[in-house]
Amino acid sequence: MKALILVGGEGTRLRPLTTTLPKPLLPVANVSFVERTLRRLAEVGCDEVVLSTCYKSEAFDHLAQRSEVRVRTVVESEPLGTGGAIGWAARGFDERFLVLNGDVLTDVDLEWVISSHAAFAGEATIVLTPVDDPSRFGVVPTDDGSRVIEFVEKPAPGTAPTNMINAGTYVVEPGMLERIPSGRAVSVEREVFPAMAAEGVLFGLASDAYWLDFGTHATYLQANLDCLSGALREPVPGRELSPGAAVRVDDGVEVAPDADIAGPAAIGAGTTVGAAASIGPDAVVGADVVIGEGAEVARSVLLDGAVIGAAARLDGVIVGGGGAVASGSVLGPGSVVPPGAGPVHVPRGGR
Ligand code: GTP
Repeated sequence: MKALILVGGEGTRLRPLTTTLPKPLLPVANVSFVERTLRRLAEVGCDEVVLSTCYKSEAFDHLAQRSEVRVRTVVESEPLGTGGAIGWAARGFDERFLVLNGDVLTDVDLEWVISSHAAFAGEATIVLTPVDDPSRFGVVPTDDGSRVIEFVEKPAPGTAPTNMINAGTYVVEPGMLERIPSGRAVSVEREVFPAMAAEGVLFGLASDAYWLDFGTHATYLQANLDCLSGALREPVPGRELSPGAAVRVDDGVEVAPDADIAGPAAIGAGTTVGAAASIGPDAVVGADVVIGEGAEVARSVLLDGAVIGAAARLDGVIVGGGGAVASGSVLGPGSVVPPGAGPVHVPRGGR
C-alpha cells in the first residue's frame, strides 16, 4: 500500500521555529514527526511513502535514503492546498492509499483504519477524534452506519453539531483523485470532503487513540511532554540513566557529577550538562545542546544545538535549533527562543 504525507505547509503558527525547519521535521521528543510516521507506515507494510512538499522542500531530501520504506518527495512550485497537494502528489495512483496530515501526532492503529475502510466500502474514510472545542477544526457528524452526514470546516463557537473532528488520517480510493481540479489550490476539507459527504460516499471512523495537532507553540510543547509521560505510546530514544528514574540519555551525553536530572526527561546525543545544573522534570533536551553551570530547565523543549548560558532559568520554554539563551536569563511559560543563525540543525533522527 502507498501512503502520502502532507508536509508542504509553512507552519506559520509555529514561527519562528519553522523559519529554519518545516514543521514536520521538528523533533518531538528528539525524533522528527516524519521519522515517527515513516516508522509507523513501515510497520503496517507500506511499500512507498510520498512526501507532498512545498515549503522548504529540500529539507526532506535526506529521507529518500531510508531503507525500511521507499520514500519519494513530490514538490509543488506553489502551494496547492491540502486537496490540490493530494491530487498532484498521488497522480497515477491506481490503488487504495493512506493520507496523513504532517502535523498530527497520533498512535491510532493504522491496520484498523485500513480494514474499517474496506468494510465501509466508501470512496474515503476519515478518522475522527473527540475534542473539547471543535470550532477550530473540521467537524464531522456521522449516521448510525458511520456515513458522514456533512463536513463543517471551523464552525462558529457553540454551533458544531458534534465534537467529533477530522483527525487528519484518511484512507482514499483512487477514484477520489478525479474530484480534485488540477492547476489551482484546492482544500480537501472545504471542497472535496463536503461534496463527497453530500453524495454519501464518505465515512467517519471514531477513534479514542492519542491525538494532538502540534501546530501551535503550546501544543508542540505538549506533544513533547506527552511523549515523555507515555501518553503517546511511542518509545523515547536513548537508554535509562538509572533504573526507574524516567530519564533517557542518548550516546555521548556528559552530565556533571553534581548536576540534578529529574524525570521524566530526555537528553539527546552529544549534549553536555554543566556543574550544578538542574534538568527536569518534563524536559526534552535535543542533541549537541550545551547547558551552562547552574542553569535550570523544566517543562521545556530545547532543540538540537541550543546553548543555555550559566545560571539561566527556563520554565515552560521552547528554544529553537541552535538558539542561544544568555547567562542569567529568566524565561517563563510561553517564551520561544528563535533558532540560531548558524547551520540548520536537522534532527539527529533524520540524519
Ligand atoms: P499553519 O500555517 O500554522 O496553519 O500550518 P500549516 O501550514 O501546516 O497549515 P495546516 O495546519 O492547515 O496544514 C495541515 C497539513 O497540510 C500540514 O501537514 C501541512 O504541512 C499540509 N499543507 C497545508 N497546505 C499545504 C499545501 O499547500 N501543500 C502541501 N503539500 N501541504 C500542505
